[in-house]
Amino acid sequence: ELKDNTIIIVLGASGDLAKKKTLPALFGLFRQNFLPRDVKIVGYARTKMDKVEFDKRATSYIKGADENPELANQLEAFKQSLTYVSGGYEDGESFEKLNEHLEGIESSYKSKECNRIFYLALPPSVFIPVTKNIKDHCYVTRGGKNRIIIEKPFGKDLESARSLLSSVKQYWSEDETFRIDHYLGKEMVKNILVLRFANIALGAAWDKNHISNVQITFKEPFGTEGRGGYFDEFGIIRDVLQNHLLQVLTILTMERPVSFSAEDIRDEKVKVLRAIPPIEKTDTLLGQYVSANGKPGYLDDDTVPPNSICPTFAACTLWIHNPRWEGVPFILKAGKALNEAKVEVRIQFKDVTQGIFKDIARNELVIRIQPNEAVYLKLNSKTPGLYTRAIPTEMDLTYKRRFTEAKIPEAYESLILDALRGDHSNFVRHDELDYAWKIFTPILHWIDGQNGVRPKPSQYPYGSRGPKELTHFVEKFGYKRAVEA
Ligand code: BG6
Repeated sequence: ELKDNTIIIVLGASGDLAKKKTLPALFGLFRQNFLPRDVKIVGYARTKMDKVEFDKRATSYIKGADENPELANQLEAFKQSLTYVSGGYEDGESFEKLNEHLEGIESSYKSKECNRIFYLALPPSVFIPVTKNIKDHCYVTRGGKNRIIIEKPFGKDLESARSLLSSVKQYWSEDETFRIDHYLGKEMVKNILVLRFANIALGAAWDKNHISNVQITFKEPFGTEGRGGYFDEFGIIRDVLQNHLLQVLTILTMERPVSFSAEDIRDEKVKVLRAIPPIEKTDTLLGQYVSANGKPGYLDDDTVPPNSICPTFAACTLWIHNPRWEGVPFILKAGKALNEAKVEVRIQFKDVTQGIFKDIARNELVIRIQPNEAVYLKLNSKTPGLYTRAIPTEMDLTYKRRFTEAKIPEAYESLILDALRGDHSNFVRHDELDYAWKIFTPILHWIDGQNGVRPKPSQYPYGSRGPKELTHFVEKFGYKRAVEA
């Protein structure tokens, strides 16, 4: 599927996402020889600059080239593939100009067939004009493929998401559209399918008869610092839960797909999403961080409107009404400005039958998505010695120790490569998005105050574990902390 003649056009090339993620990921693929041989990368944005300036910007986010001559050489080679065009997002003429530039590149290729991959690292406000303008002015028709890669936010609720989807659909088919949720590109998220379906021992215990509760946790140790304008409009649920954590949940709970094909996988994901009813208010806990230990509170961020009650922390419990999962709570929780950086899945199994063992710790399977990728299983084992006493221990698969040589790919590297290959398995299908919004829209409307008074989030100090009600919240849903031995 990889054509040698491929142009990757990064729209929004001077923005944050392009600088932090898209361009470094493209360089990562380039240096590992995963990009097509004659690939060209075209930056496009409103900012006026020449190639020298763009090269400088595009490579300034790649660290370590000063001390590493090999990396420095690769960076030089990468620069050869870069060019830049400046233009607006709303007007057709700018896109005509972009098209001329692309045709210029293509005329240097031997074969006429050329792929154009458009990566939209853009704010949602220009989504629709840009998808239309590319289709009208920059779409190759004489062989070769056109694809667009788009990023969240895909709307703010069910209605706005539907209208966005249908606008984009007028110009781009589902086959040409790649909706990124970068959590689907993370190594440990991709590992969930293997853990579940390639291990009969785990697979056998993967249901309501063995599992008591599941927590999917996202913690960041920094606040919205400077990004408050965007964040305040969306809040933590739209930023992290409705997409990233829900995606992890679907992979964790879907039935075994018939094959690894994109449609088989996504059919199963959609089935499980359809079995999840909208979240109840009573199954929700909201928080907002306040200043502590010399760190600013959410409201101290100049980009945040005064008196905002936007949640920067949320815990929501979801239920799946199907025979495998009936009655098992799935607690999704995420927060900014917490005590640590950590994303993990914690599956807590049920108690063993009482009798010979009392007050014994529950088994837990933890999949640590980041940092320090690991899978570990908490087991009870006999204390070595001349008496029988069980103590909690761990079977530990820490990647750094087990796979010492392995380099864990960046999520964006993995996803861009999939898009180049035309593989949709790790991209969000339109119906997945629709069901995801159905689950979250009522609770979001309540939080936004659409049906009355807006709920006030509970305050938590910057750098803490979250709102003080959290311990009670997870215990209410059956989570049992191990008794200290
Ligand atoms: C983004 C959110 O989608 O994911 C950010 O908008 C968040 O608020 C980020 O920080 C987290 O991604 P990662 O890969 O650092 O876990």
